[in-house]
Amino acid sequence: MALSPLRIAVLYYQSGQDEADPVVEQVSQCLRDAGHTAVPVRVDESLSDLVRRLTRSRADLVFNLCETFADDYRLEVNVAAVLELARLPFTGSGTAGLLLAQDKVLTKQLLQFHGVLTPRFATFDGPSMVAHGDLSFPLIVKPARSDASMGLGVEKDLEGLARRVRLIREEYDDEALAEEFIEGREVYVGVLGDHTKPQVLPVVELDFGSKWSRKRMKIADREVKFGPEGPGEPALVMPKDLSDELVGRIERAAVTAFRALKLSDYARIDFRVSSTTREPYLLEVNPNPYLEEKCEVAMGAREVGLSYPQLIQRIVETAARRYALGQQARPSAPEPEAEAASLG
Ligand SMILES: Nc1ncnc2c1ncn2[C@@H]1O[C@H](COP(=O)(O)OP(=O)(O)O)[C@@H](O)[C@H]1O
Ligand SMILES: [Mg+2]
Repeated sequence: MALSPLRIAVLYYQSGQDEADPVVEQVSQCLRDAGHTAVPVRVDESLSDLVRRLTRSRADLVFNLCETFADDYRLEVNVAAVLELARLPFTGSGTAGLLLAQDKVLTKQLLQFHGVLTPRFATFDGPSMVAHGDLSFPLIVKPARSDASMGLGVEKDLEGLARRVRLIREEYDDEALAEEFIEGREVYVGVLGDHTKPQVLPVVELDFGSKWSRKRMKIADREVKFGPEGPGEPALVMPKDLSDELVGRIERAAVTAFRALKLSDYARIDFRVSSTTREPYLLEVNPNPYLEEKCEVAMGAREVGLSYPQLIQRIVETAARRYALGQQARPSAPEPEAEAASLG
């Protein structure tokens, strides 16, 4: 059934000093091109401003691009909770999915239960340490709720491990997760749809590039994520040499994770393919991945003939279906203003 035009609030985080991320205008433009009305709504650090702006937007649906609140990425969950309390339909995962996937330890425990392969690990919560099997160095140590590679590092011995666990507790006020380092190729898949029939997009690879020093371990640290782009620098590519068997395993793990973590509409799931065993290890589930037009999800979508505007419209359609929004012929569609008037 065709989707009638909606009034869509594009919700994004922008702190005082920063400029708006280009993704906000990119998504808004796609929404306008598809016939919707796009209303940008900025989130910063005030809950009352957030509620007031949302109320004023009179939106039928929120396109939730918000990954942070008050400079704290962990609060993206709480922003979704506000939308749920306000009974405002929104794109992407709800609080349950955002919360489960944000906690890397909980994610691994859930995935283990479902038989999805993840690197062997130990957790350090305050003075207690829980190891799940024997671990060998090097270990990659990160806050359980890290994001954008913050606080993450490779440690080669017990001293380094202890130092980083302490740093994670003191600077990030978090439990530390130590995982075996998986040497191998790093690949990502986007997942679209709802839990009944998620669609896994083609695999995108992070090519570390020709300028990478032999001595440097291959990890997507902050320099890789936010460093210079250009010839020889790390870049996203579409690999053509992965076996069907490997791709099938990645797809099955991605679907299991998408369902187990209660995700909706879109997500990106990250893997490392071990260069020794050739097995795909699931590293991280991103329930609210960056949606910029050159991002991993958009690249995968393009490969199956879904342009960026079509990808954005697909996300809107999936969310709208979940809330039974705009599904009828236009004359009998619900009054958009009536929906938003209940906010605040
Ligand atoms: N167990 C691991 N083995 C190898 N590399 C890893 C492992 N865990 C993380 N990394 C590297 O660190 C990057 C960031 O880790 P990730 O768990 O995705 O945290 P973040 O939430 O900060 O993105 C990964 O993209 C990968 O390059
Ligand atoms: Mg990551």
